[in-house]
Amino acid sequence: MIGGGQLGRMLAWAGLPLGLDFVFLDPSADSPASAFGPVIVAPFEDREAVFKLAGAVDVVTYEFENLAAHLLREVAAARLVLPPPLALEVSQDRLLEKQLFQKLGVPTTRFVPVSGRDDLEAAVATTGLPAVLKTRRFGYDGRGQAVAGDAALLDAAFQRLMGAPGGLILENHVSFERELSLIACRDRAAEIRFYPLAENVHQQGILRSSRVPADVDAEVSRAAMGYARSLLTHLDYVGVLAIEFFLKNGKLIANEMAPRVHNTGHWSIEAAETSQFENHLRAITGLPLGETRLRGEALLVNAVGRLPEIHPLLELPGVHFHDYRKAPRPARKVGHVTALAASAAELEKVMPKLLVQMPFETVS
Ligand SMILES: Nc1ncnc2c1ncn2[C@@H]1O[C@H](COP(=O)(O)OP(=O)(O)OP(=O)(O)O)[C@@H](O)[C@H]1O
Ligand SMILES: [Mg+2]
Repeated sequence: MIGGGQLGRMLAWAGLPLGLDFVFLDPSADSPASAFGPVIVAPFEDREAVFKLAGAVDVVTYEFENLAAHLLREVAAARLVLPPPLALEVSQDRLLEKQLFQKLGVPTTRFVPVSGRDDLEAAVATTGLPAVLKTRRFGYDGRGQAVAGDAALLDAAFQRLMGAPGGLILENHVSFERELSLIACRDRAAEIRFYPLAENVHQQGILRSSRVPADVDAEVSRAAMGYARSLLTHLDYVGVLAIEFFLKNGKLIANEMAPRVHNTGHWSIEAAETSQFENHLRAITGLPLGETRLRGEALLVNAVGRLPEIHPLLELPGVHFHDYRKAPRPARKVGHVTALAASAAELEKVMPKLLVQMPFETVS
């Protein structure tokens, strides 16, 4: 596994009962996944280290998106790499990603690549205002983007973000009603399974909570699954793929996708028959996929900046605690909690007591 963060940790944890062994590549020796297997400590772009990892395993996967895609392609010539490097390449670049959405008929935001100050005016003519200026690459948790309501603010955003490697993209700002995500999985035999849509709440660009099942029309779910199916098939994808959507006037607008297990699917550990982590591993190791149906209603809440106190949280019925073993730092996801209940009414009784306890610290 390339990357040893919390996703790697939860993947490896899910792999233990399947009898899988893991080797990680991570720049840090005591990353969250390091409790689950040996770590090759090296930068992600260290070619020798990546090949050393590949030489030690049967299949290479990644839990971190900002790898050199050309390096992954090289490795893929020698070892099975899943999800396929093309999926990583497309997901790494918001422009390629949105162009692929367009090509496959997946509705997305209006967008224009911006390479210089002179492009801004023409770009705004396409997107309108407010618009969101984003770096094409390396964005996460809302970093590398700014919302601008007028030309002066857009100019200020440009001054701040220009020079980002990979350039910028301008999108229209969607006044969405809700945010949804779909976790999909495709195995080596091309069998596809979907988890129910999740409804997500972001604060300052950072995922705060995720609730399943999202309360949406069957039509909306069907559309999301259709879009995911097109993407999975086109990319000859194997593993878990997450797609984030905005819902506006009852219609889906794809925001982005991630070629990996996803924060908006962490509830699946307790709330689904088979977790997204186990299904990713089943898919890439050639095993049949597990059932994705829910075991109840669930809410996931991230701990941002620092962990909450564990004791009072575990007094709440159906609550499960996840400590990623990461040092506290403003705006950093250091853990999450999932509440599972037999009904929406029961979940809603627990929710306020849970939410007040969960830290969301973004500045020191
Ligand atoms: N075009 C847009 N219109 C309205 N809101 C947006 C738009 N783009 C982003 N946002 C808001 O900012 C959040 C983060 O944006 P996005 O998912 O594009 O960035 P990210 O930094 O890659 O996030 P992630 O943590 O999912 O990787 C979105 O979930 C949404 O709430
Ligand atoms: Mg996102």
